[in-house]
Amino acid sequence: MSVESRQQRHDAAAHPLASGSFPLSPIVAGAWRMAEWGWTPQQRLRWIEQAVELGVTSFDHADIYGDYAVEGLFGEALALRPALRDKLQLVDKCGIKLVSLRRPAHRIKSYDTSRAHIVASVEGSLRALRTDRLDLLLIHRPDAIMDAAEVAETFATLRQQGKVLHFGVSNFMPWQFELLDAAMSALGEQLVTNQIELHPLHLEPLHDGTLDQAQRLARRPMIWSPLAGGRLMAAPPADDAARRVQEVLRGLAEAHGVAPATIAIAWLLRHPARPVPVAGSRRSEALREAVAALGVTLDRESWYALWQAGRGHEVP
Ligand SMILES: NC(=O)c1ccc[n+]([C@@H]2O[C@H](COP(=O)([O-])OP(=O)(O)OC[C@H]3O[C@@H](n4cnc5c(N)ncnc54)[C@H](OP(=O)(O)O)[C@@H]3O)[C@@H](O)[C@H]2O)c1
Repeated sequence: MSVESRQQRHDAAAHPLASGSFPLSPIVAGAWRMAEWGWTPQQRLRWIEQAVELGVTSFDHADIYGDYAVEGLFGEALALRPALRDKLQLVDKCGIKLVSLRRPAHRIKSYDTSRAHIVASVEGSLRALRTDRLDLLLIHRPDAIMDAAEVAETFATLRQQGKVLHFGVSNFMPWQFELLDAAMSALGEQLVTNQIELHPLHLEPLHDGTLDQAQRLARRPMIWSPLAGGRLMAAPPADDAARRVQEVLRGLAEAHGVAPATIAIAWLLRHPARPVPVAGSRRSEALREAVAALGVTLDRESWYALWQAGRGHEVP
C-alpha cells in the first residue's frame, strides 16, 4: 500500500474530533542528536530537504537539545532557504531546566512550567529557529508542582498571539494528561498528543493506561526513540532482550522483504491509537526505512512475537 493510500485510510478511520486535525506528518524527524553530527549549515539543510522529499515534513525539537544548541543549528540551516519554512511543521518542547554554561542562572536541574518560563522558552525557541511560530509545543516532562490552570491559560495566550498553533505534553502518565487536558478544555482547547517512549524493549505504555487513554480520546501519541535509541539495531546486541528482538525483527524483515528497522516502525504503527514515530537518524536511508513502514501491516502473531521477544516470555 502506498504512503498516500495508507494515510487516506487512516484519515477516513479517524475519530471525528481528530479527523484532519492532527498537524504532523505520519513520520517525524527528531533533531535531538544534531549537535553530535558536526555538520555544516549546508549539510543540515540537506538533511531537512531529504526528509521533506520523503514526506517527513515535521521536525521534533526541545529547547535543551544539544545543551541548548540544536534549535540554533536548525535555524541557521533554515535561513539558507527560508521559503522551506512553510512546508515544515516545527515541534518544540519546554519545561526542563538544565545546569549549563548557556543558562548560568540554573543552579540545579529542575522542571518549570510557570507562565514566565514557558513564555521565555517559546520566545527563545522562535528566535533560535528563526521562525514566527511553532506548530506544536509540548511540556517536556511532568512537573510535580505544575499549576494546570496557569499552563492552560499560558497556552491559550500563545495561541491567540499566533506564536504556537497546537499544544501537547511528553512523558505524562494518563492522570497527568487528564489534569492538563481538563484545564485546556475549560478554555475550549485540547492537548493534541502525549510524546512517549515505546518499543519492544519498553512496553509499559501498552499496559499502564497511556495508550488506552490515547485511543479513547483519539489523541495520537508521538513515539520517541522508536528504535530504542539504536539498541534495536546495534551489533553486537547490548543484552539478551535486544538479541531476542533483533532475531525476530530479522525474520519478519526477510518475510516482508524490508529492512529490520522498517519492521520495528511497523510494530508501532500497528497500534490502534495511531502512533506517530519520531525517527532519530542522521541518514536519509534510515528515514526511508522508517517511511517504508507505512506500507507494512503486521499480523497479530508477528506483533506479539516482538512483544514476547522484548518481554522474555509469552503472554499469560
Ligand atoms: N520527549 C522526550 O523525552 C524524548 C526523549 C528522547 C528523544 N526524543 C525525540 O525522539 C527522537 C528520536 O530519538 P532517538 O534518536 O533515540 O531515536 P531512534 O530512532 O530510536 O535512534 C536513533 C539512533 O539509532 C541509530 N541507528 C542505528 N541503526 C539504525 C537504523 N538502521 N535506522 C535508524 N537509526 C539507526 C541512529 O544512528 P545514525 O544516525 O547513525 O543512523 C541514531 O543514533 C529524538 O531526535 C528526539 O526528537 C524525545
